[in-house]
Formats: sequence, C-alpha cells, structure tokens
Amino acid sequence: MGALEVREGFTELYDAEPEGVWAAPGRVNLIGEHTDYNDGFVMPFALPHVTTAAVARRDDGVLRLHSADVPGAPVELRVDDLAPESDRNWTGYPAGVVWALREAGHEVTGADVHLASTVPTGAGLSSSAALEVVVALALNDLYALGLKGWQLARLCQRAENVYVGAPTGIMDQTASACCESGHALFLDTRDLSQRQIPFGLASEGLCLLVVDTRVQHAHSGGEYGRRRAGCEKGAALLGVDALRDIPHDGLDVALAGLAGEEEVARLVRHVVTEDERAERVVSLLESGDIRSIGPILTEGHASLRDDFRVSCPELDLVVDTALASGALGARMTGGGFGGSAIVLTESSDVPTLTQAIEQSFTDAGHRTPRVFEAVPSAGARRLA
Ligand code: GLA
Repeated sequence: MGALEVREGFTELYDAEPEGVWAAPGRVNLIGEHTDYNDGFVMPFALPHVTTAAVARRDDGVLRLHSADVPGAPVELRVDDLAPESDRNWTGYPAGVVWALREAGHEVTGADVHLASTVPTGAGLSSSAALEVVVALALNDLYALGLKGWQLARLCQRAENVYVGAPTGIMDQTASACCESGHALFLDTRDLSQRQIPFGLASEGLCLLVVDTRVQHAHSGGEYGRRRAGCEKGAALLGVDALRDIPHDGLDVALAGLAGEEEVARLVRHVVTEDERAERVVSLLESGDIRSIGPILTEGHASLRDDFRVSCPELDLVVDTALASGALGARMTGGGFGGSAIVLTESSDVPTLTQAIEQSFTDAGHRTPRVFEAVPSAGARRLA
C-alpha cells in the first residue's frame, strides 16, 4: 500500500489530515543468528516490504491506533495508562513505543496513527520491528526528539522486551531503522557500531530468495528464551561478560571447561562459530566475492540445526532441496522454529529452484511456501 492510500485511510478514519507519512521495512538476516543477545555480530538487510504509518500529534494524552489490516474502529488508549505487559494485541507494539519514549523522558502527549503493512506476519521477517520503528520514527520527527536511528532501535527493543514481554535482541529494530538500499548492515551488537556493506546481487547475476515456510511452530517464544538463558549460563560458567568474548581459537578450551554441560556447550559452539562466520562473510563481501559466502551460509544452517536446535523439518527441507538443486548456499533466517529460509543462487536458476522447493513441499504434504526475491532495500524513512 502506498503513502497516498495510507494518507487517505487516515483522513477517512479521523476526519483530519495526517502531519506526515513514514515507512519502516521488514528484514532478512544474511548471517549472525542468535548472536545479538550475546554481544556478537549480525548482518541483516532491509526488505522492500514495509509498514507505513500516517500520523498526527495530539496534546490531550490520547493515543488512537488503527491498522488497515485489522478490521474495526481505532483502539483508543491514554498515554498515562500505558503499562508493561498490559496489552497482548498488535497494539502493544506501537503503544510500547510511546511508553518507552515517555519513560525515557520524551514528552509525547498523544497521537492518531493509521497503519498498513506489506511485511508478511509470522514469517520471521520482523513485522513487529517494522511496526515499532515506523511509529518511533514518526514521533521522533513530529515531536522533534532528535534521536538517531540506533537510539530509536534501542527504544523499540525496550518496548518489545519490557512492554510486550518478548526477550529479543537488538538486530531487527536496528535493521529496520538503519539499513541502506543495496547494502547489508554489519552490526556489532556490543557497541552498536555499524558498517554498510555493498551487497549488489543483481549486478553479479545473483539472487537471494526468501522462502517463507508459512509455519510457526508452537512454543517458539519459550524456546527462544530458553536458548538465551542457556547462552547466559555458558558465559557465566566461562567467566566472561558475553559469549562474544570467547575467541574462535579459544573454543576448544572453552568447550573442555563445559564438560558435563552438553546443552550449554552446544549453544556456546554455535554462537562462537557463528560470530566467526559473520566475520568471514563480511570480509568476502568487502572483497567483492559474493559467491563464496554460499558455503558459509550453509554451515550456519547446520550449526543452527544441530547445535542451537532452532530449525524444523520445513526449514531443513528448503535448505536440502535448494542445495540439491544447485543453490550456492542456504540457511534458515531469524529466530527459527518455522518462518523463513534464504537461498543464494545464480539468477538463471531461480525458476528451477522455486519449482523444486514447491514440489518438495507438496510431496511432503506441507502447505505451499511463499517464495520471493529479496532486494536489499532502504531502512526507515519519511515518505510525505
Ligand atoms: C529474532 C530476534 C532477534 C534475533 C533473532 C535470531 O529475530 O528478534 O533479536 O535474536 O531472532 O538471530
């Protein structure tokens, strides 16, 4: 849905003009999975799919939220009443952002908001981060708060962790807020330093497919928290602040120190090797060698499947089928337990690969997956 339609939707709903229209994208992560809550490296890029928001300020403490994707009248809240974990609906994300801004001392006195999104939900493509970031950016502009992208990302993460109650890391919000078109974002989640890495797939005759399995296995939230707690236990047992502090060449010694802690040792091995894979991918991309990252993506999948244990049969089927059909590399992306996988391939192989993946899902009795090309796109911005 374009800026104009969202503006018109706002006018119809609230009988007034919005003060502006903003957009924030979903993301896929190229490499660096389950490293962001271990102070490690991630490398997401933004999708062309966005959440768009038309917004106007209010000065009477009322927050009205409406989404074109949810039938019904706007939800009306009072900014003074916003309280962590009080809202289990979609409105918890934008309301959480208002709460986080106010809690950080920013005087946000209300807003009328109308949203529409093209980011697939429940697909591991960060539709929640897009929703948070678009509202944060709009309020940052309208209330002249002067916050930078990484600061908005931090506030959005706080909204998600404390207000919504999901213990996620900082990757998704930073990707949505800070990515640039034609680039992947190499982010050090310890100090939030960023490097924009040119990622020109098309000019190399390459394509990165996203395969949304359209499954989301139950308990994914609880399992995420359990992995996170396991990583924190590993860091404590090894006497470091975060698993980021275990160098790759110190892994064997670290694992020897975790004898008798089989589960923790597997988690540690994934995180330490994944950080090293992210560093290898960034140096290959910086030297212009995109094709060579393929096998590293595939190694990452094996580590997520066997050591971190967050894959599922549908994601494994995408990866195995893609590789058997000539893909350069493939892996699950995002938190896991369903959601999406990415496949790096020669552009000329896209039709054969897509067909092979769809056929494998039919043969296995799964729902047909949604397959699309991921073009590295712009981060959050004002549209009008
Ligand atoms: C989810 C979380 C992120 C990150 C990924 C796994 O997307 O929101 O913070 O931890 O899982 O890499």
